Amino acid sequence: IRTAVVIPAAGRGVRLGPGTPKALRTLGGTPMLVHAVRAMAASRAVSHIVVVAPSDGATEVDRLLHEYPLADRTELVVVPGGRTRQESVRLGLAALPEGIDVVLVHDAARPLVPVDTVDAVIAAVRAGAPAVVPALPLADTVKQVEPQPQGTPEPVVGTPERSLLRAVQTPQGFDPETLRKAHDTVVEGEGATDDAGLAERLGVPVVVVPGHEEAFKVTRPLDLVLAEAVLARRRA
Ligand code: CTP
Ligand code: MG
Repeated sequence: IRTAVVIPAAGRGVRLGPGTPKALRTLGGTPMLVHAVRAMAASRAVSHIVVVAPSDGATEVDRLLHEYPLADRTELVVVPGGRTRQESVRLGLAALPEGIDVVLVHDAARPLVPVDTVDAVIAAVRAGAPAVVPALPLADTVKQVEPQPQGTPEPVVGTPERSLLRAVQTPQGFDPETLRKAHDTVVEGEGATDDAGLAERLGVPVVVVPGHEEAFKVTRPLDLVLAEAVLARRRA
């Protein structure tokens, strides 16, 4: 049984601040994208990885990845991405080989996900779930608000029960046909912020497996501090 991974890495990283595209920023001296690729290749089930690079930087990313060869025989290809994450994933799916049994979509911005989490997602798809997401309970209480113009306090509309909420991570795992259909059917801009969200719109059942604290997304500058600390702890 073969598993392929699409790694969307075409974002700019606006919230991280000015500089190189986020996936190419370094953690412990190694580009974040290389950490993410290694995290996927660490799973023995993974045979193919498609990296979706910034549309104007695919050649550069391809060259960079050649500087960090993988220890095993995982095949790696680089394709140019799109203007949104959804478009980038769709372009990555188009580059998947035939005969794949499980497809994962993993954000380059989650470079430190442990292999056990990757394997748990793959195992749940193999066990028959068409769509699987790793997720964690929330630490913060969440409020729904009525958005207002900047500077005006936002009225609270409600407080969903925290114990029923989960913060969703990647890799998300799918039956390949289900994910292709979801990306072919759901129109961009309909508000799905992850791949499982597209599948949900088609009525596909999605299940949750336990996520991991170290699978957090590097989004803001403080996340870089945390990522460096996690790496330093692993190397100690
Ligand atoms: N991504 C992508 N193509 C895009 C936008 C995002 O492949 N057009 C990828 C990012 O590279 C990242 C993942 O989707 O690995 C999750 O997105 P996010 O964390 O939002 O990254 P960015 O979009 O780069 O960051 P920001 O929103 O702060 O600009
Ligand atoms: Mg983004």
